[in-house]
Amino acid sequence: MDSISIRGGARLNGQIPISGAKNAALPLMALSLLTPRELFLENLPSLADTRFMGELLATLGVEVAYGVNGGGPSSVRLQAPKLVSTFAPYDLVRKMRASFYVLGPLLARAGEAKVSLPGGCAIGTRPVDLHLMALEKLGASIELEDGYVLAAAPSGGLTGAEIEFPFVTVGATVTALMTATLAHGHTTLLNAAREPEVTDVADCLNAMGAKISGIGTSTLEIEGVAALKGATHRVLPDRIETGTYAMAVAIAGGEVDLLGARGDLIESVIDVLLEAGVEISETNEGLRIARNGHRASAANVTTEPFPGFPTDLQAQFMAFMATAEGESTIKETIFENRFMHVPELSRLGADIIVEGQSARVKGVPKLKGAPVMATDLRASVSLVLAGLAAEGETMVNRVYHLDRGFERIEEKLGACGADITRVSS
Ligand code: UD1
Repeated sequence: MDSISIRGGARLNGQIPISGAKNAALPLMALSLLTPRELFLENLPSLADTRFMGELLATLGVEVAYGVNGGGPSSVRLQAPKLVSTFAPYDLVRKMRASFYVLGPLLARAGEAKVSLPGGCAIGTRPVDLHLMALEKLGASIELEDGYVLAAAPSGGLTGAEIEFPFVTVGATVTALMTATLAHGHTTLLNAAREPEVTDVADCLNAMGAKISGIGTSTLEIEGVAALKGATHRVLPDRIETGTYAMAVAIAGGEVDLLGARGDLIESVIDVLLEAGVEISETNEGLRIARNGHRASAANVTTEPFPGFPTDLQAQFMAFMATAEGESTIKETIFENRFMHVPELSRLGADIIVEGQSARVKGVPKLKGAPVMATDLRASVSLVLAGLAAEGETMVNRVYHLDRGFERIEEKLGACGADITRVSS
């Protein structure tokens, strides 16, 4: 299993290209199940998770071809002339929670599906009850049997409905949206997630002939259509990767251009980084992030649904605050078990106390390198960032989590002067 070794202390200077968003790419790939026509995605991030989604889709009857039609390596052509299976087994779904996204489209197109309950990052219980609630409202019968969800549409097909989510959920909003496009009649989603990845999926569905309005708001209106056609769609830039590299510069110091980054996707993050003393400006090519000379100062954050501060940047922000001047309070409101990076950051010398869903971080002048263990995707990248500021060597073990979500991280940071290498074992 690979590890990443970082020798801290180098400032970062240069350019980092921002990849397409993983959390948009995965449901976008699943949209190929909804139509016999070709879906062509550009700006697809090259990650373990996207490759894995391709493998899962192939077992269901999707032809998957990367880098064809002159689209370059970051493109994929997906086409399912006919579904050959509606079964997603445990072995495939447990590896990646987003595999669960095949359930709604399989049900909508084939009228039935058997999909394993998901696994994924260990950041809380993460149930799927609201995905299932939405499908039931559309008329599906749902049974749970031996760890599997068995979903079936009535003989006349699914029917539009009013679906209200008790709290904001990205996954259940996307499941409801994908499925309702092929239901008879009108569906209204109330308290829908407004995350940019949901918007990207809705835009792609409309390009495929769906009739979705209210995109970007918390009320989505969907007029069902009989069939969807093919489309070409460009995956939006990854706001979590953008925020992560912005925090890398905030931690290490220096000046880096994030190419292709969009400030409008991370306004809440920009606000808090500015408050901490990081300089951020828009350029023609993206965002420029700089911290020169002075030590950053503490700032507080509370994770919230979009447009609030994203939970997927909480661990990285904590790594940043570990060396800022003063005390910062970081509150996690989305997932109940998302402080697993705290003991690992403490091994590097961070001073953090967890009280329930809040962490109090007292900035220390210097961290010290140590071997640490990655526990989930965002936690592992926070350890890499902390390593950039730590004296001596930080060895981040179990980096397969990182490879699920960050494209060529050691190359991107290395090109800006970080002393970072992958150690294969
Ligand atoms: C997605 C992202 C993940 C991000 C999260 C919140 C993907 C592949 N993953 O995860 O990176 O951290 O949004 O922005 O896009 N919940 C239920 N029942 C459900 C569904 C969710 O109780 O049926 C709860 C969850 O346990 C959690 C909260 O709702 O406490 C929000 O989860 P949700 O927004 O659905 O996250 P995911 O879609 O799993």
